[in-house]
Amino acid sequence: MLVNLPTRNLALELVRVTEAAALAAGRFMGRGDKQAADRAAVEAMRLVLRSVEMDGVIVIGEGEKDNAPMLYNGERVGNGSPPELDVAVDPIDGTRPLVFGRANSISAVALAPRGAMYNPGPFVYMNKIAVGPEAKGRINIEKPIADNLKAIAKAKNKAVEDLTVVILDRPRHEQMIAEIRRLGARIRLIPDGDVAAALMTAMPDTGVDVLLGIGGTPEGVIAACALRAMGGEIQGKLYARNEEELQRGREMGYDFDKVLVMDDLVSSEDVFFAATGITDGELLQGVRYYGDGATTDSLVVRGLTGTIRRIWARHQIEKLNLLSPIKY
Ligand code: FBP
Repeated sequence: MLVNLPTRNLALELVRVTEAAALAAGRFMGRGDKQAADRAAVEAMRLVLRSVEMDGVIVIGEGEKDNAPMLYNGERVGNGSPPELDVAVDPIDGTRPLVFGRANSISAVALAPRGAMYNPGPFVYMNKIAVGPEAKGRINIEKPIADNLKAIAKAKNKAVEDLTVVILDRPRHEQMIAEIRRLGARIRLIPDGDVAAALMTAMPDTGVDVLLGIGGTPEGVIAACALRAMGGEIQGKLYARNEEELQRGREMGYDFDKVLVMDDLVSSEDVFFAATGITDGELLQGVRYYGDGATTDSLVVRGLTGTIRRIWARHQIEKLNLLSPIKY
């Protein structure tokens, strides 16, 4: 008899990566120093990533926005043995909220088979629409907002007025916000952190129905990995900030009119995702430090099975510091 034994769940190893980044970054809550927070998260994430048995290449890294020296696009991570994987990292999504002591800052990592993740090159912005499993297959980024909200409301068996739409609080969204107000849906304006917001659409407890608007492209790919695993959906369209960027994109073969559907953003179901809360939020609790340790709250998701785990951990900082080359 052929028996299929359960295969390795890399997300259970990834959670140590995001926990380490959150533990290191959490120290910087409210301290106003974005660079120091980022450095701490990146160093911790990189260190633990090295221990994961995989041959990983970073597709979504710290690279394009700020010429990062670590976890840059193209960097090899893992111990070098198979499987060959694409890696997306976001050591801190919500650096500003973290250093100003605000909500919903998380650390996130995703893995997919080599070649499966969309490579956005140097183009940092993407228009997005993201929903959870109930509204999967009902959205179309090409259609007017009214049509999308009606379709989502219908799929969730509620009125448009009952929907909660999350949008990044940016001047570029003024028109969209006015339109949603006109349609009567509720709005949650977030200062930052649209990875957490995209995930919230797939977690019914958060009360969030849809994410709309222009945010980071790397964040869009990471959210796509998570939503693919959680059974939700995201669609995106690269967004050029000016004519020069549009032109440059065209020369590099990027099509700003193309709708990037799930399969474009991550073409495999075999994805792994982990995220750990850094500051408190609707999705995850932030890191809490005690005299002798700290606690973390994480989400661990695997695409092939669709299992979503919530992992609460208590870390013994003194013991960790004895073993680790970086200080937690
Ligand atoms: P960082 O923490 O990496 O700075 O990203 C925060 C974030 O709010 C993302 O969640 C979002 O996708 C992007 O920035 C939006 O970009 P901008 O702040 O330029 O509008």
